Amino acid sequence: MQEHQTIYFKDYTPSPYTVDTCLLEFIIEESSTRVENIMEIRRQNCDAKELRLDGEMFDLELIWVDDVLLDETMVRLEKNAIYIPLDRDYARIRVINRIYPDENTALEGLYRSGGIWCTQNEPEGFRRITYFIDRPDVMTKFTTKIIANREKCPVLLSNGNLRGTAILENGKHLALWEDPIPKPSYLFALVAGDLGSISDTYTTMSGKNIDLAIYCDHGNEDKCHHAMRSLKKSMEWDEYTYGREYDLEVYNIVAVDSFNMGAMENKGLNIFNSHYVLANEETATDNDFMGIESVIAHEYFHNWTGNRITCRNWFELTLKEGLTVFRDQCFSADMNSPLTQRLDDVRALRERQFVEDAGPTAHPIKPDHYMEINNFYTATVYEKGAEVIRMMHTVLGTERFRRAMDLYFDTFDGEAVGTEEFLWAMQSESVIDLSQFKRWYSQERTPTLNISSEYSQDSLELVLRIVQKIPKNTQNQEQLPYTLPLKIALLSESGEEFDLITSDCILLHGNTLWITDEVSEVRFSAISSAPKLSLNRHFSAPVIIECETIDYPFLMAHDSDGFVRYEAANRFGIETLEAMMAGSEVSERYIESYGALLRDTSMDPMFKSQVLEFPSITTLMQRQEMIDVPSIVNAQEKLKQILAQRYFSEFKHTIETLYAPSNTDIDGLSIANRALKNRLLGILMSLGDVSISRLCESHYYEALSMSDRLSALELLENYAPELAQGALADFYTRYSNQTLVMNKYFAVRASSRREGTLERVIALQEDFAYDVKVPNLVRSLIGSFARNPVAFYDESGEGFAFVADKVIEIDAFNPQIASGLVGAFKNYGRLSIPQKAQMGGALEQIKNHPNLSNNVYEIVSKILEVS
Ligand code: PHE
Ligand code: ZN
Repeated sequence: MQEHQTIYFKDYTPSPYTVDTCLLEFIIEESSTRVENIMEIRRQNCDAKELRLDGEMFDLELIWVDDVLLDETMVRLEKNAIYIPLDRDYARIRVINRIYPDENTALEGLYRSGGIWCTQNEPEGFRRITYFIDRPDVMTKFTTKIIANREKCPVLLSNGNLRGTAILENGKHLALWEDPIPKPSYLFALVAGDLGSISDTYTTMSGKNIDLAIYCDHGNEDKCHHAMRSLKKSMEWDEYTYGREYDLEVYNIVAVDSFNMGAMENKGLNIFNSHYVLANEETATDNDFMGIESVIAHEYFHNWTGNRITCRNWFELTLKEGLTVFRDQCFSADMNSPLTQRLDDVRALRERQFVEDAGPTAHPIKPDHYMEINNFYTATVYEKGAEVIRMMHTVLGTERFRRAMDLYFDTFDGEAVGTEEFLWAMQSESVIDLSQFKRWYSQERTPTLNISSEYSQDSLELVLRIVQKIPKNTQNQEQLPYTLPLKIALLSESGEEFDLITSDCILLHGNTLWITDEVSEVRFSAISSAPKLSLNRHFSAPVIIECETIDYPFLMAHDSDGFVRYEAANRFGIETLEAMMAGSEVSERYIESYGALLRDTSMDPMFKSQVLEFPSITTLMQRQEMIDVPSIVNAQEKLKQILAQRYFSEFKHTIETLYAPSNTDIDGLSIANRALKNRLLGILMSLGDVSISRLCESHYYEALSMSDRLSALELLENYAPELAQGALADFYTRYSNQTLVMNKYFAVRASSRREGTLERVIALQEDFAYDVKVPNLVRSLIGSFARNPVAFYDESGEGFAFVADKVIEIDAFNPQIASGLVGAFKNYGRLSIPQKAQMGGALEQIKNHPNLSNNVYEIVSKILEVS
């Protein structure tokens, strides 16, 4: 068994040496790439006598220190590092080594994606390119020379500004790139290949002209325009909202098909998963368009929050990620509908982050140890991290938050810092003491606020009692109460808000309580009638609310806070379904309230489609002590049928009114109409009515937008298998040469709730369009299957065994993708005895596999340990 080492935050020390400049030369050839690397090293700690450079998976050819060629007797070589005796303040190290991009299946370092040479270096990929001090607090000025065949690689890109090109002999050419701004090695990037592109320009607020370009496979240029528009909007937004402008002469984006994550913010040369760049109406859904806008913005915003100011070490990851997610969420809210955006963000948080936080892999947004840092690009670090920033934004208010951000940028520009520095900047503009607030960074799991109220007709007072229930952490230790902003309203029978008057607690901006204690009692005076509680408005704190006196139908109809209105419908739905699962009849009040929403013509259609959504299987599973998927699905389907029967003509009429097959516009209203129409059609389909199935089929064939077509296809697959066959075959032939659309095809088939999904998934692995080496395809086929509760938790246990086999198979060549799949097993602790035995067997099989990566080992052992 190999060793799996843990790294601790408390062991961090600054690097004894740093790299001031790095001159790189890449000679790219078919079979291998030669790298020459000249580094100016500077000693930072005068006690240091030995320089350690990270390096792995390449062949070292020659290495010099200040022109002295070293041999094996003069250095210590380990598998992942070289140690060089070095007792002076400055030195020049020159390395020549060779790398093999074609054999790089882990997709970290320099690799090939469909013929294109490209890099991925965050967090620790640069050490697979050459020797370096590969840690984010070592910031270096990089200059990069790329030499490659002119025909094969007409495009040669790296970070910074282009300083020259030249034509060489033997059909080669070179490009010289210089990045004037020091950066950590994880932001280094290189691209070489034969690519198409679109270009544009942007004039910054100070009048500088920036050349923008988006590169992609030839033939896809026309699918880059939405990404380009999104980029320009992002640049403008960051100037307007934060006063930050772009700092280089060029901004390049390259779309590649093989990429482990969504995208990467390399300085001046973002590399993207093509899923987040390429789109047109025919191939992309409305969600895809929104996703592109937000990821393009996210990576652009990293230029200030991540690149100019970076992380001191990887424990600080949320410093850049939580903050940048918060920024991209605000951007999307400003570009589209703030309410829709907030509901989407909260839904994603609760479906992914709350689930993670409740399970065996829970960790604080700032973890204090890790085995494999790649496992920490999580919903917790990103999405909960963003909520923590948002709470500070709420506490400070927009103006003070902006001033605190200015201070943060001005003080730490060009540095590698931590969340402490960020909090210092926030504190300096905050009238509220944030010291206890820091617990959000170091504690894990989701707190619950138990809220009760008592109203006195005589004194016209309302007492709110708020009790924080703080779960123990994964080590089973007690944790401390939080401070948090809780936005509330007390509503009169007619929906008016009472003024909040109290001396028991700090009121931020009039309607937000600043909660600091485990138990708070807040007395409000001059409340002229028993009020209705509207709690955690706008989802002001990432907590679970427990309150027995919430009037769901009232809030669904009357609350002026869209989030609470949505939440009331959602919670009422959960209670109704849970009662059905426990054997009760469906609640008539729920059916009526649902009908009232359905008939409400004043409601924005997008909001309506969100409010009419059903609580998801994940949400309901999350609340079960012992997971029972069939009971959830039965209740859901039954409730859909009841609603569909009761409101059949309303549903049908609304669907017909909203249906516009040839509208492929992506303005807010068109998107909203499609979303609502497809949501309602989904409910009607539960009836199994032939005429509805035919209607759905016609929506499939008539659709010009991918949103409509895909949604109809999913419904046919789940509810009308006889009609699905033809539609699936049609979909396949229409799009078989477009890998991004084939991802959707595989996802529909692997997410199917119909019987036999596992057999079909197994067979689809042989499909011509499938390739286990391409992460998007694995996520679509295997990932969708692992997230398909019906098929994955099938009582045969075969779903568990299948995913375990895939984890082992994929871990051998791409550990990051394999460890992503293992997450599927995190409900291990909450299964029935027979299912637990089945999943336990699958987990043991993975854990006992020889040569398991750190990535997979860390997740599997946590699941087995905690459960
Ligand atoms: N830093 C990237 C982002 O969030 C994510 C990423 C991490 C991409 C690791 C690749 C590898 O924008
Ligand atoms: Zn990011």
